[in-house]
Amino acid sequence: MLSKDQNDLVTRTGPGTPGGDLLRSYWQPIATSEEMPIGGDPMPIKILSEDLVLFRDDKDRLGLTGLHCPHRGSDMSYGRIEDGGIRCLYHGWLFDIDGNCLDQPGEPEDKKFCQKVRYTSYPVEDKGGVIWCYMGAGEAPLIPDFQFMTGRQENRIAFRVVQKCNWLQGLESSTDPAHVSYLHRLSAPEANSNSYDSRGNNRFFSDDIYPRLQIERTSFGVRIHALRKMSTGENYLRVNNYIYPCGTTPVGTEPPPVKGYQGRWYVPQDDESHCRFEFIYRHGEPLDKEFWRKQKGDNVGPDKQHVRRAENRYMQDRDEMKRDDTFAGLGRYIPAHDAFAIETQGKIQDRTQEHLGSTDIVIIEVRKALLDAIKQMQAGGEAPGLLRDPEQNTFPDFICTADFIEDGEDGPAYIKRILGAFPKAAE
Ligand code: FES
Ligand SMILES: [Fe+2]
Repeated sequence: MLSKDQNDLVTRTGPGTPGGDLLRSYWQPIATSEEMPIGGDPMPIKILSEDLVLFRDDKDRLGLTGLHCPHRGSDMSYGRIEDGGIRCLYHGWLFDIDGNCLDQPGEPEDKKFCQKVRYTSYPVEDKGGVIWCYMGAGEAPLIPDFQFMTGRQENRIAFRVVQKCNWLQGLESSTDPAHVSYLHRLSAPEANSNSYDSRGNNRFFSDDIYPRLQIERTSFGVRIHALRKMSTGENYLRVNNYIYPCGTTPVGTEPPPVKGYQGRWYVPQDDESHCRFEFIYRHGEPLDKEFWRKQKGDNVGPDKQHVRRAENRYMQDRDEMKRDDTFAGLGRYIPAHDAFAIETQGKIQDRTQEHLGSTDIVIIEVRKALLDAIKQMQAGGEAPGLLRDPEQNTFPDFICTADFIEDGEDGPAYIKRILGAFPKAAE
């Protein structure tokens, strides 16, 4: 449970808020690279309660500027790409990717008025299949070189989906190792029979529904261990991570040895909606991108929201529940289960009313990490985990995997044993 003040601190992210200052200290993803290809159309973007336009100029350089023209406010995402920038349709003012005014038809030639015009612009970079922006004060840190962004291009793909609730609800669902034994329980094996028991339940979730949880602070955030005793006697450990300030890396349910995992970022559009970015990654083999594109095409609408949504009650099917095909009656697409869970908590979950139990130690730790970071910044310090030296941008303590561990071993001991053997980003 949080006090109202604490809940506001970690959920309010508009300009000038402490939570917004924290999130603005890091690069944030705003679109997938596929959404803004070379020659692509300008795209309205809402992030951290600011309305912006992402565009490529006529030299294909990326720019991120205010959505509303600084002249009299028309929407610049309708603008023309020409003459080295984006030109407003209303009276033809022209701006470059850095927000400089290049042309004001009808105004004096000396350009003095042009120079007076202030137009919001932020630096942007295309990296890891995603376009990132930096909205903070001062010099931008580095975009973190996690392997799910720097590995071979054929091994990774990124997607974006909009979820209609506060960003922290998305982040918390992704760090919560306990809910998978319920919300995501499926039967009727589809892909990998090793993952399923004789009743068709995913045995990695259903054999032991109360995982033993452990947490460790790391250079980049929090490492999360969930240990389950399988009916076979094996000790099944899942190692996920929280990454400052709004990232996670959940691992899937393939049987060990695990060959991939996901990176996720939960980026506020405003305080009542956010974008969930997924970086799907295999470290040792190419990804079946067509499979993933089809899965997203089937489950995410043209408006970038899940097909299953509040307006259609997430298309819940109680016959599916009765047959025990799925625990939740919400189909087999796991992100839609999470969307149901987090969107129905309310636009901004009132954490003064919750009752956290012993399975919530990860939630408590992640909130503490966020509140500590905000406190550190309020005291004049820098946000945690910022990287400025390219040589340090390597994350030697980063591991995301699932494995069978030895009897008597726990998560932290396992990490010590395999650290260094975990596959690094493919060159
Ligand atoms: S409102 Fe954009 S040029 Fe006038
Ligand atoms: Fe989930």
